[in-house]
Amino acid sequence: MSLLHERVVARFETYFGHAPSVTAYAPGRVEVLGNHTDYNEGFVLSAAIDMGTAFAVSQAEDTSCRLYAADFSEESRFAIGRPERTDDMPWSNYVRGIVHGLRAHGAMERGFHAVFAGDIPRGAGLSSSAALEMSSALALAALYGMEIPARLELAKIGQRAEHEFAGVKCGLLDQVTSLFGQEGSLVHTDFRTLDVAPVTLGDGYALLMCNTHAQHALNDSAYNERRELCEAAAAALAKLADHPVTHLRDIDWETFGKLRGSIDPLAAQRAAHVIGENTRVRKGVALLRGGRVKEFGQLMYESHESSRTNFENSCAELDFVVDTARAIPAVLGARLSGGGFGGSAVLLLPADAAETTAGKIAMAYKERFGAECGTSVLRPSAGARVLEGSA
Ligand code: GLA
Repeated sequence: MSLLHERVVARFETYFGHAPSVTAYAPGRVEVLGNHTDYNEGFVLSAAIDMGTAFAVSQAEDTSCRLYAADFSEESRFAIGRPERTDDMPWSNYVRGIVHGLRAHGAMERGFHAVFAGDIPRGAGLSSSAALEMSSALALAALYGMEIPARLELAKIGQRAEHEFAGVKCGLLDQVTSLFGQEGSLVHTDFRTLDVAPVTLGDGYALLMCNTHAQHALNDSAYNERRELCEAAAAALAKLADHPVTHLRDIDWETFGKLRGSIDPLAAQRAAHVIGENTRVRKGVALLRGGRVKEFGQLMYESHESSRTNFENSCAELDFVVDTARAIPAVLGARLSGGGFGGSAVLLLPADAAETTAGKIAMAYKERFGAECGTSVLRPSAGARVLEGSA
């Protein structure tokens, strides 16, 4: 049993006075290349990480659901038949949204008792919310004996929870990576076909996460605004292209070069990021498969530069980490990871340079911002799973 699993089971037992029937675990994720491409039906290289959320649950005698967040000692209650969105304890919306989505897959008559805890720093852009969604979805589906036709369905239920209960119009990246992560490997996902394939970084390389702790206000609305502009760009390009276009995925870099001058300049600027990212991910997969890790690192720097100038989803703190990393010869690549507007940067470097690099970045960051930059080496890990009591 992992430490986290043990902690959740122990907290469950003290809180509810009996053992849980099912426990599930889901990891967070790091986005390595391919920014804001998922909802544009493009490509991403990502990895599930060795930090996540464990969720323990048993059925209640009545219809009430009691959900206890062990990390912040708060309990949220709702009736199983009415898992509504709430402004009180907003963290509970992810699980409420999952319950809402699962109800379409089978009977949920009795309520439940649940405890969850995790070790993903919140607000770091490492998808602690997707880890909560996927761990609760797996645990609850097992508890109620539901036949879920495909795991992908759980990812979609998680995405709907974000859209309808948390108000973020995210893609499927976080949930898919949490479910389909592979030990020791990145995963390459095609967000049109939803095919997932492993791609290894190669021995001796590591991913270092640098959490700026910066959280720029309104990042959910900025995210949704970016998405709307991408959709507007796709619609405008569809009118000009000589082939069918439903998403930015359908426009390659060359075609974009010919058409971009004829659409709204801001929409074109946002689209340039997404189309550029799709190109970089395709190139990046080939480079990694050919063992050309150094060149892959360059694509990460290019990705960040495009975030900074085209998509404008970086910030001073992230730019500082990336610039500092670039000045360290051992580092091969660095970029912001995830939605942006704060959160974490991810660095690619030889594993034996990780510790000293982390120290240098943390020191420089402290000097510049007077604040801590949390660093940790991320180990690409296996995806979400039921830990015990699988029905
Ligand atoms: C967040 C969203 C994802 C994805 C990334 C950016 O993590 O939840 O769906 O869009 O941002 O690539």
